[in-house]
Amino acid sequence: MTHSSIIPALPVPGPFSPTQSAGAGLPSHAGSMPVALTPDPRLPRLADSASFVAYMGHGWAVPDRTPPMVDGAEHAAGVHRRKLGAEFEGVALVIAAGRAPVRVNDNNYDFRPDSNFYWLTGCSREGAVLVMAPTAGGHDATVYMPQPAYPGERDFFANAAQGEMWVGAAPGMPEWSSALGVPVRPLAELDTALTKAAGALAAGPLDCETATRHQLGPSTVLLRMLAQLRMVKDNWEIAQLREAVGHTIEGFRSVIREIPDAIDGKGERWLQGTFDRHARTYGNGVGYATIVGSGRHAPTLHWVRCDGAVLPEEVLLLDMGVEMRSYYTADITRTFPASGTFSGVQRQVHDLVEKSHRAALAAAQAGKKFSDFHVASLEVIAQGLHDWGLLKVSVDEALSPEGQQHRRWIVCGVGHHLGLDVHDCAQSSYEAYQGGILAPGMVLAVEPGLYFHANDLMVPPELRGIGVRIEDDILITPAGAEVLSDALPLDASGLERWMRAALHPGSR
Ligand code: GLY
Ligand code: MN
Ligand code: MN
Repeated sequence: MTHSSIIPALPVPGPFSPTQSAGAGLPSHAGSMPVALTPDPRLPRLADSASFVAYMGHGWAVPDRTPPMVDGAEHAAGVHRRKLGAEFEGVALVIAAGRAPVRVNDNNYDFRPDSNFYWLTGCSREGAVLVMAPTAGGHDATVYMPQPAYPGERDFFANAAQGEMWVGAAPGMPEWSSALGVPVRPLAELDTALTKAAGALAAGPLDCETATRHQLGPSTVLLRMLAQLRMVKDNWEIAQLREAVGHTIEGFRSVIREIPDAIDGKGERWLQGTFDRHARTYGNGVGYATIVGSGRHAPTLHWVRCDGAVLPEEVLLLDMGVEMRSYYTADITRTFPASGTFSGVQRQVHDLVEKSHRAALAAAQAGKKFSDFHVASLEVIAQGLHDWGLLKVSVDEALSPEGQQHRRWIVCGVGHHLGLDVHDCAQSSYEAYQGGILAPGMVLAVEPGLYFHANDLMVPPELRGIGVRIEDDILITPAGAEVLSDALPLDASGLERWMRAALHPGSR
């Protein structure tokens, strides 16, 4: 029962107290009965009744408690733990899965494990904590997790967080242990394990309570190392990313098919919902908030409101990514003409972004600096804008550190690492990331664009309200780079054809 909808947020003594309401002692349940002024004897506290607890302990078959694992995740995690352990010989390492943030009262946002925790365990259990205790030959890994409550325990029906009646079939310690390939112990034992390990402890993102109790702060050293190690993907991770890209491209197709309905009145919301449903069905969900920007919304870099109309004569910018059940995500953008045909000026902008994008792809190669592809694509943008007469300074001046006038129309970066997080490895040092060298196994999103806001008085009216981004996901290989998302065309005419094929499958 939710009390907060009918009582003030201030504590109210007396009969309105949540602990005295009907059914108190049991978790809340949306849409249930109204609050009674005094406890109603017809609705006793079930959890307090020994006979009811005993009655509820019988008559249940054991459900399938197989943990939700992705094939190969536990093997990859073992390799990752060995890599991390080698960097921290003799040091105990602690990384927590975290908990879902509260949305309101006893309702939480969806849980997603901390990416470092998942990378090291393959485990998606909320509240779990990995401890890597140093040994003579490396580290012994143990995962501590909350124990589910099963038939025979009061919490089976009285604990909404851990009771199997509330959360569904709940894998226990033995099931998780065999799935993860490491010992799994109750979370209640974590304190003892941490006390044992204290003195040689580098703390990961521990939950606050544990961190405070053990006087541990987050360790920048550990997080930086994890970010650095995660930069180069292994084959299993690359396979996950390939799948994420494949599903995302199919999601683009689904969205394109809905454009007529979106134009007819359902708007950006419909297209966003279409992609998000696709992502939820074929993966875990979206890897970041979907961006659907029609017309004047297209130049807004993070147009996640997606609450506008879809206008037929305007461009439609779609930035969308499916996050797999392994949490690896794609991050792809294409800009389409909602009508199916770019106008002359829209095409002109698209052509310049395409040229910039191709320059970026050519510069994103093993052995090159991470910054090289940014520079290459921005040089094209600066030159193009100069040719159009938009830059009031020379290209050289614009490209100088004190200039950068062209960046008025692209204030964001041109790309980033991609993996478990859409902006992957963000906790790396500058030297390892922006100052680093591209190496085989790195996966990047490359995304130049041009963004002419509807209220930008420094561009001619016909450019205002046009935003174009082209974003591909690429894998750095020994020979150069592979564009994972190359099933989507880069050029304006190719996109028009691709749209037609999506809208009218079978026709040419
Ligand atoms: N949509 C997030 C990004 O492209 O980086
Ligand atoms: Mn994106
Ligand atoms: Mn991106």
